[in-house]
Amino acid sequence: MKLPPIVKGFSKLSRSEKIQWLADQNKEAEDLARVLNSHLHPDPLLQGMYEEFSENTISNYFLPYGLAPNFLVNGHLYTVPMVIEESSVVAAAASAARFWAMNGGFHVKVVDRLKVGQVHFRWTGDGASLYNLFERNRENLLKSVSFLTERMEKRGGGIRELRLLDKTDRIPSFFQLFVNFHTADAMGANFINSVLEELAKAWKDLVTRETRSAGIKGELTIIMSILSNYTPESLVECYVEAPVKALDRLDDNLNGSAFAEKFALAVNIAQKDAYRAVTHNKGILNGMDAVVIATGNDFRAVEACAHAYASHEGSYTSLSAASVRKGMFRFTLKVPFAVGTVGGLTELHPLAKISLGILGNPGASLLMEIIAAAGLANNFSAVRSLITKGIQQGHMKMHLSNILQRLGATEPEKDEVKRYFGDKTVSHSAVENYLNILRNQSR
Ligand code: MEV
Repeated sequence: MKLPPIVKGFSKLSRSEKIQWLADQNKEAEDLARVLNSHLHPDPLLQGMYEEFSENTISNYFLPYGLAPNFLVNGHLYTVPMVIEESSVVAAAASAARFWAMNGGFHVKVVDRLKVGQVHFRWTGDGASLYNLFERNRENLLKSVSFLTERMEKRGGGIRELRLLDKTDRIPSFFQLFVNFHTADAMGANFINSVLEELAKAWKDLVTRETRSAGIKGELTIIMSILSNYTPESLVECYVEAPVKALDRLDDNLNGSAFAEKFALAVNIAQKDAYRAVTHNKGILNGMDAVVIATGNDFRAVEACAHAYASHEGSYTSLSAASVRKGMFRFTLKVPFAVGTVGGLTELHPLAKISLGILGNPGASLLMEIIAAAGLANNFSAVRSLITKGIQQGHMKMHLSNILQRLGATEPEKDEVKRYFGDKTVSHSAVENYLNILRNQSR
């Protein structure tokens, strides 16, 4: 197979030159430039700003921005902004939020918000000498980064703990500086990484100097300095609870007690079966991610942390748990993740700012609470659908709308097709056939 030539200096091309280059590679994509250009922001200043968020930008990629009202979290009512491409997620969040607002709401607690950073290095000398040197110089090391931590300390954050860890049982000569941070209302990735890189330099200098003067044998090589997205100590716990009687009207065929038992069993299956657990947790993250994205936070970091935590006991399990005891149904979620309400995109992206405004400009802790509530809400709605009518009914309604849109159906055609498919299985070809029949009849 003949490969196209390797492109050089692509980033230096203007936006329209990049599009032209792309069109040259994709002869069949005639409409490329028109579609890409039609998704640009009409305000060139705003377009310029969006382009600067990333690199090699040629257009904007729109996602729906929706609202889920009626989120009662610790006694306060919130309208929650959600950005997500998947149909039914916002509706599911809104439906669970409304139900639980009438039943005590979401009870949420941020257990802690500690973040982790690591300097990974090799030390070829003796571990005990290194520990000794570290203990004697811990304060000096902290002082060496105070020019970076000073401002964060004024905001209530900073380094909480600095430890030296011996990892030689895993890899020969492998050690770590393991640092716990509090980053106030910031997610803190840049802050943590800057501190770690500075700390690594200071540590390397210190060890080189001190070992030389004390005649200690050994060489230290810094491998890398980076935050960890696994933050089990940036943890939030959330629950809803109600007498089973309150669940009476959630399904036509199950009374509250039967619904609660079936629900708890479904969650238990997710606790015991990894295949089910991944999908179950994906349902939680549907809600969490949508708020994370709407508020300009890093959903990949949230996902990575949540999934890692789901296996912290040795096998992958559900992040939520459900129980029925003495007539009370309780549904809980425990999930660690890191988000911020200052810094990064939260202050740059106009819609992230709007989202935070809609939520009353929360601090990071409150935002974590709301995100956890959205996760539990979506989990509740998903499991509710699964154990009752199934999820396809709702999905198929959206699917049908999408098919009709793609086939260019008129409003009266849409109404008739939706009526016709009310009790039938939806597929693209079935809808197309029926639409053709309608169109032939009206000729
Ligand atoms: C779909 O995006 C999410 C669900 O699959 C979650 C679940 O199965 O619990 C419905």
